[in-house]
Amino acid sequence: MKKDFIHTDDYSADEISGILALAAEVKTRFKKRENYKPFQDHSLAMIFAKPSARTRISFETGFYRLGGHALYLSPRDIDMGKREPVRDIARVISRYNDMIMARLFDHAHILELAEYADVPVINGLTDYNHPCQIMADIFTVKERRGHLDDLKIAYVGDGNNIVHSWLRLAAVLPFHFSCACPPAYPPDADTVRRAKDAGISEIEILHDPVSAVKNADVVYTDVWASMGKKHEAEERKAKFRGFQVTDALMQQAGEDAIFLHCLPANRGLEVSDSVMESPASAVFDEAENRMHVQNAIMLRIAGKA
Ligand code: CP
Ligand code: NVA
Repeated sequence: MKKDFIHTDDYSADEISGILALAAEVKTRFKKRENYKPFQDHSLAMIFAKPSARTRISFETGFYRLGGHALYLSPRDIDMGKREPVRDIARVISRYNDMIMARLFDHAHILELAEYADVPVINGLTDYNHPCQIMADIFTVKERRGHLDDLKIAYVGDGNNIVHSWLRLAAVLPFHFSCACPPAYPPDADTVRRAKDAGISEIEILHDPVSAVKNADVVYTDVWASMGKKHEAEERKAKFRGFQVTDALMQQAGEDAIFLHCLPANRGLEVSDSVMESPASAVFDEAENRMHVQNAIMLRIAGKA
């Protein structure tokens, strides 16, 4: 049966840990420029309904370095759900390509794509979640700390697709997740309940950034207005006042806390310039790790490693 990568909690803790271990291996091979081409004569269709730098570059470069060819399909090529039914494009692409990665607005579209495609489908972000990002994030945390024991992640900002991804990871791997968001911008209530009901991690949804970051090993933020909400950016600036990750807020976190941001960042809004440039900031390792972790995800779901 084909395997898709749509939500982290579609996988067991052992499977997630296995992908993280494989990512460390493929990162070493990549750095040594080993001749490792398990995707030779394979092609990856990359569908983008939204803009992207990291996701496009990391998937395209990663798949190429593993021996394959990746095709970039813009909104003008596919126009998911509008030009033709999702279930039709799923079957058409499956006739040409060995794997699909898609960045879409509507989460229902990635579910339909996965249901009807005959080849594995990877979620490269929807309005609901961003599982490849969170896999790279937890990999980066493990790389920096050496382990994931007694981990506290504090998220400060919008209760968006990144928060949902942390919550769905918290339903499989144990950690303390503390989210501080303005009361009007909480994460999806069902996803919070699902994470709490899994009984694996401690989950807190708060409205005070200082309380959330207390003793945190990781302070994480993301844009206040995600793709699809950019028209609300001005109005959100006022509503998110006090939610910027500053040096003063980092001081309230645990000793040696690291700062993560999925990027792109708006310096001076959700994070100060000085935090981005501080020794605590691991954002560029995090961005690099997207590629290594995604390579591991692709190899694993294709049964190549
Ligand atoms: N973090 C991330 O997914 O970046 P892009 O939107 O540039 O792909
Ligand atoms: N929450 C952001 C993440 C970008 C990688 C967005 O959806 O725009």
